[in-house]
Amino acid sequence: MKVMLIVGVRPEFVQCAPLLKELDQSCEIILVHTGQHYDFEMSELLFNQLNIMKPGYHLNVGSGRHGEQTGKMIRKIEKLLLKERPDLVLVFGDTNSTLAGALAASKLKIRVGHVEAGMRSFDKSMPEEVNRILTDHCSDLLFCSTKTAVDNLKNEGIVNNIYLTGDVMVDSLLYNREIAERNSNILYQLNLRPNEYIVATVHRERNTSKKGYLKNIVDSFVEAEEMIVFPIHPRTKKAIEMYELCKELDGCNSIKMINPLGYLDFLKLIENAKKIITDSGGIQKEAYILGVPCITLRDNTEWVETVEEGWNILVGTNKERIIDAIHNFNPKRMQNYAYGYGASKNMATIINSLRWDE
Ligand code: UD1
Repeated sequence: MKVMLIVGVRPEFVQCAPLLKELDQSCEIILVHTGQHYDFEMSELLFNQLNIMKPGYHLNVGSGRHGEQTGKMIRKIEKLLLKERPDLVLVFGDTNSTLAGALAASKLKIRVGHVEAGMRSFDKSMPEEVNRILTDHCSDLLFCSTKTAVDNLKNEGIVNNIYLTGDVMVDSLLYNREIAERNSNILYQLNLRPNEYIVATVHRERNTSKKGYLKNIVDSFVEAEEMIVFPIHPRTKKAIEMYELCKELDGCNSIKMINPLGYLDFLKLIENAKKIITDSGGIQKEAYILGVPCITLRDNTEWVETVEEGWNILVGTNKERIIDAIHNFNPKRMQNYAYGYGASKNMATIINSLRWDE
């Protein structure tokens, strides 16, 4: 079977790595990188650290407005699909690369498998939510991380070919956890001691596209008076410069702004953090799996189990709530393995057992 995997951004590289290992033994693989993320730290570094094969095709799409970026990808992916004629296209998560891959393939009647199908924030103002819904509705195989995702799909009338497999990010995390512990010296490099710092990441469109929201976040970091390590996404870096928030951050000794990190350094950094502040979806999950309390800079989340089990608190961009959570949020129960184990093996078994004439 010929399987084309389409990836373009950081979390997709993390998601595809364990699945590639599983599928490599039984399928012909074509890996396509759309080029949505292109900085060394956002792309090549992760490929190196996760031992991901060199993509067969790199589409070099780069940044742009949503329509422009997605449209460019669809055009280029369609050409590739016509050339390669895969039996199955796999897309991951909720990005513009996900939607472009799913649309291009489904219009050519090539089967689409969506990894991380059915997650919903129920907030259509997020580009990711729109990408998720549209991708699910044109996919043939829906690989779900949780029972909640399965139920979400059923509520939207999608009932066939749904597979509850667990989440592939768990596989990446568990496989790399010890490697990171052994090989990363990020704590030494940044002069940090375990459990004495907080890690923060911010990149969501909502939080970076309005000065007020980003200023609240930055002010809360400054006023919390805690050691905060802040690896800066390129989008956020540009926004901080544009809104002239650099002075506040530079003048604050307890905030360490650093470049985006590779997967292994980031894993070691968050595993040893006392708390995590983020607006990323993947990091909410990683925090939960590692047992690190997570403060989420959003009013909603797709990863509802993290909140229900008390490991994640949604604080939006309200300064007082962020500061309060930094000082007082503490989970009370053990986690319940909400995201399963062995998702990539489960998916590979399903893919290998498919009969295409069905
Ligand atoms: C994208 C995904 C988001 C995911 C995130 C992970 C969509 C709609 N969003 O958001 O779901 O959580 O990736 O990081 O697909 N930029 C660079 N260099 C890069 C990449 C981006 O400078 O390598 C800058 C560009 O100015 C770009 C901006 O960051 O315009 C945003 O990048 P983009 O890929 O569009 O969205 P992300 O915020 O990364």
